[in-house]
Amino acid sequence: MLATLKELDWDFKDSRQSKGLHSIHPYPAKFIPQIPSQIIDTLGCPDGVILDPFCGSGTALCVAQSKGYESIGVDLNPIACLISRVKTTPLSTDFVDAYHHALQVAVELEVDVSSLSNIPNIDHWFKKEIQIEVLKLKTAIGLYRDNTVIFDALRAALSSIIVKVSNQDSDTRYAAIDKNISPQKVYSLFENSCINLSQNLIDFDGVSSSIIINKDILKVSKDDIPKKVGLLVTSPPYPNAYEYWLYHKYRMWWLDFDPQSVKKSEIGARAHFFKRNHHTAEDFFHQMKGTLSLANDVLIDSAYAAFVVGRSKIHGEVIDNAQLIIDGAEELGFNIIGRFDRNMNSNRKSFNLSHANIKKETIVVVQKK
Ligand SMILES: C[S@@+](CC[C@H](N)C(=O)[O-])C[C@H]1O[C@@H](n2cnc3c(N)ncnc32)[C@H](O)[C@@H]1O
Repeated sequence: MLATLKELDWDFKDSRQSKGLHSIHPYPAKFIPQIPSQIIDTLGCPDGVILDPFCGSGTALCVAQSKGYESIGVDLNPIACLISRVKTTPLSTDFVDAYHHALQVAVELEVDVSSLSNIPNIDHWFKKEIQIEVLKLKTAIGLYRDNTVIFDALRAALSSIIVKVSNQDSDTRYAAIDKNISPQKVYSLFENSCINLSQNLIDFDGVSSSIIINKDILKVSKDDIPKKVGLLVTSPPYPNAYEYWLYHKYRMWWLDFDPQSVKKSEIGARAHFFKRNHHTAEDFFHQMKGTLSLANDVLIDSAYAAFVVGRSKIHGEVIDNAQLIIDGAEELGFNIIGRFDRNMNSNRKSFNLSHANIKKETIVVVQKK
């Protein structure tokens, strides 16, 4: 198996991440869909469902679905779960009526922005006139609260435009600048996002179901996973690299989630590495061992688990995260199939993290005995 895996091209140099379904919402450190696709084709899932315990924006779940597999995704971040649910659930043309209606209702509404005072530094990150229009849209979307599929899709569309209409320079640059966004732009961006959702999700053959669980993976028990798992494929968070809670902080505030509680449990978040008694590689080892222990409970015998992970730098020391996953798997009695590296496309903006310098990733494959 290792020889077969190593022979394949894993670099996908000319790939673009965000096309079609994968472009409906920004997400940091997304899988290129070709990676889970090649993993699924090579390792197979003869029985049971495909599990991604850190599903993020649901790339692996969508790929599984496109190949006719049922899937289960887990993520701590509620924005990740919202995107994953939306990407794996077909829409009907009712969605088109709904977003037109929401737009019509929103422009007529009167709102009181003092209800936004719970959002820290709101005036620094959003101009008053923008706050008013986003709140109007949010209020109009609330009319669809009882129709979960449409409500989720409308909220995902709103979430996808939050950074664009804010004063934040870009998704990856946290500086406030004047972007000259007009209040009307809020509506045209929202409408474009809804059109993108319609184009990708109406008449889409998402027949294989996908279950999304919004939970800290270290608190998920085997009883939370309702089906036996035939393949695990994931790209875990790792120390001192991306901060998913920070990337989605204002999206979470606007959609009534709590970014601070997400930050607390987020594996690898930089805050955990810059405090007294800070986290170390040892913490990551235990977090991955916890995840593997759950995998051991839910995987069928002889099923594979593939982890795609980069290296970390913690206070100057380079940490081989792939080896920590292998060590945890070995202690739990998995067969270690092996590890191999892939080169990453360094032009991709979301990967240019100066503190992490991520140029290579390692694919680790283990097998339940
Ligand atoms: C590398 S990203 C996954 C990206 C995904 N492969 C995609 O294509 O979008 C890692 C994910 O782990 C999630 N995560 C971090 N800590 C977690 C925890 N304790 N439990 C569950 N998920 C967690 C983050 O929210 C993030 O979405």
